[in-house]
Amino acid sequence: MKITQKDREKAECLLKELTLKEKLNIIHGTGLFHTGAVERLGIPAVYMSDGPMGVRKEMKDDAWEACGNTEDYVTYLPCNSAIASTWNRELAYACGQELGEEARGRGKDVILAPGINIKRSPLGGRNFEYMSEDPYLTAQQCVPLIQGIQENDVAACVKHYALNHQEYRRLWVNVEVSERALREIYLPAFEAAVKQANVLSVMGGYNLFRGVRCCENGYLLDEILRKEWGFEGVTISDWGGILRTKESAQVGMDVEMSIYNNFDEYFFANPLEEAVERGEIAMEKVDEKVRRMLTVMSALHMLGGERKSGCYNTAAHRDVALQTARESVILLKNEEQRLPISKEKTKKLLVIGQNADRVYSNGGGSSEIKALYEISPLAGLKALLGGNTKVDYVRGYYVPELASQDEKWQESSLKETGVLGEETHKNPASGMDDGRLAMGVNGQVDLRDGQVAEPEILTEEIRQKRFELLQEAVQMAATYDEVIFVGGLDHNYDVENQDRRDMKLPYGQEEVIEAVLAANPNTVLVMMAGSPVEMGSFKDKAKAIVWQWYAGMEGGTALAEVLLGDINPSGKLPETIPFTHTDCSAHCIGTFGDKDETEYKEGIYVGYRYYDTKQVPVAFCFGHGLSYTEFAYRDIQAVPMEKDGAGVKVSCLVKNTGMRDGKEVVQLYVAAPNSAVDRPAKELKGYEKVWLQAGEEKLVEFELGKEAFSYYDENRKCFYVQPGEYQIMLGASAMDIRLVGSVKLR
Ligand code: BGC
Repeated sequence: MKITQKDREKAECLLKELTLKEKLNIIHGTGLFHTGAVERLGIPAVYMSDGPMGVRKEMKDDAWEACGNTEDYVTYLPCNSAIASTWNRELAYACGQELGEEARGRGKDVILAPGINIKRSPLGGRNFEYMSEDPYLTAQQCVPLIQGIQENDVAACVKHYALNHQEYRRLWVNVEVSERALREIYLPAFEAAVKQANVLSVMGGYNLFRGVRCCENGYLLDEILRKEWGFEGVTISDWGGILRTKESAQVGMDVEMSIYNNFDEYFFANPLEEAVERGEIAMEKVDEKVRRMLTVMSALHMLGGERKSGCYNTAAHRDVALQTARESVILLKNEEQRLPISKEKTKKLLVIGQNADRVYSNGGGSSEIKALYEISPLAGLKALLGGNTKVDYVRGYYVPELASQDEKWQESSLKETGVLGEETHKNPASGMDDGRLAMGVNGQVDLRDGQVAEPEILTEEIRQKRFELLQEAVQMAATYDEVIFVGGLDHNYDVENQDRRDMKLPYGQEEVIEAVLAANPNTVLVMMAGSPVEMGSFKDKAKAIVWQWYAGMEGGTALAEVLLGDINPSGKLPETIPFTHTDCSAHCIGTFGDKDETEYKEGIYVGYRYYDTKQVPVAFCFGHGLSYTEFAYRDIQAVPMEKDGAGVKVSCLVKNTGMRDGKEVVQLYVAAPNSAVDRPAKELKGYEKVWLQAGEEKLVEFELGKEAFSYYDENRKCFYVQPGEYQIMLGASAMDIRLVGSVKLR
């Protein structure tokens, strides 16, 4: 969906008719999830909804409470990490179409998705809402997703722009990063969203960047987003991300959304009106914002013309959730062909682990949804195995009851005491001496915005329960034909507003896994989580390990189909699983999550760019994922194309040499071995997912533009391709390179 001249003209026409009050009504929340309407001119309110995994439940207009209706159950899609791990652009597009159609069906105009921040550390609480540690993979998967959403006359809203990688102190953390890392790692997905997908809205992050709040940041919002990339859509603050009137009004931050219900006191409401009247903010600044909002509304056919109606909870949508879940399951290890488990031979199956018997859709923060249903792993296995196999389940580990979640968590997590709280909101002039504002009354800061997970407290009662559950699991494990352990994380850990403390498995799972493996070495392990966990202690002992993300309403079905061999797995890791978080460059070189100043000293060495270049061993590398069949690669060709001087055509033959049909993701990495500047050992620059019948061979082709060879040159202030020789590597993961070719660029 593209903004047209007609949209611009319509916006211009309406703008001329609006009073200042009406203009302001259009650019701030007049409800917690919508802006104001101007009825006399036929300008409707703009309704927004979270979030990445489905359309969020209906919230009250002026309170952080669910309406509690029955009509807001929806299709629950796999999380963004899962969509990325399919490495399948068509599925990303289908997910986008589904999400857009459901958003429209629920009467929304903007869906606050997808999250496209780069996963810098495995400890980020919202990692499950994001796609990958790699900018190319994120860009490639988010573009079709956005296109799919926007085909439904709904705007996607990519978030959180930019450098919003930690939850700890999320409103106050300042990110310092080199220009090169900014351009090579953190911005490419946003740039692709704007330039390739024509995304219609962008959400400004809570954090600061180079000392300036993202929602006040002229460099991000004006220089880069609008001038360099030509963004014509609208920028929306994260909820409560605007903290001062003038500073946000004078940059390209268009719409203020917040957590408060005193809508007239929003910074872009009465305070902005007063600032305009006092002459502190030019009317033209307000006009720019309103113009952009009206232009987007016109593009969405909200100002006349035929608009799509959308629909939700259709069988087709559930099928998209299932297909995506299937391709997102990652087979990490499969020694002695432990998997798939034979349906026919298995008469008694034991499932151990609470993750098998839980649902996830209703957690995680603003991405929570009311799923129409959710198939758990246990339900998926039972449904597929049917009555001839006896399936037993034991908890294995003990998850203490958490104090029930405060329904208003979103409001209270962002509200600060003293001058930082409602008072600030009522009196925007108070205590605001720098971009970060004064630190509360008496210098005390209320830390509710963003925490680090508390360490687990082991009471005698918990110890006892754990002991009993472990004993039970171990005793039973030895007596079953097959044992599947399903563990990992949950939304007590993968959650907005809280980072993890470390990568350790919670609830004493490590001990259970080791004991169960000792009792039955054939036990299959399933790790279900939204971010990496430590697997070092059992990774070598287990014969089979499967990874699953929060995989949507059909996640349990997809997992069972993979475990039982109905589906041949084809997911690949969109991020590295390190042994422990201190191996990760954000922690061992840069800083993460302990202070308000976060220095990305690791520069461009994020994820595999670091592990690979510095040869740091990892548990499972980027791009890794096995299949029940085997693929052989041969005959790499890398030929420079005449047409643009630096483009290259690459191809190879890939053959399914095993007995089963399956899909392979052929990954293309580029290396610049003789570079004058520091370059990573290799970088992902292409991938193709191919379906191959057993015995079949196919030609796989790639076209690389010159950007595939470039780096960001801080002196030239642009991307630059150094002439010389480059290596082209084709393989099944970052560490499993099968073919290497080279090409000389002039
Ligand atoms: C989150 C956003 C979300 C918004 C609205 C904020 O707390 O950071 O991702 O879209 O709330 O719910």
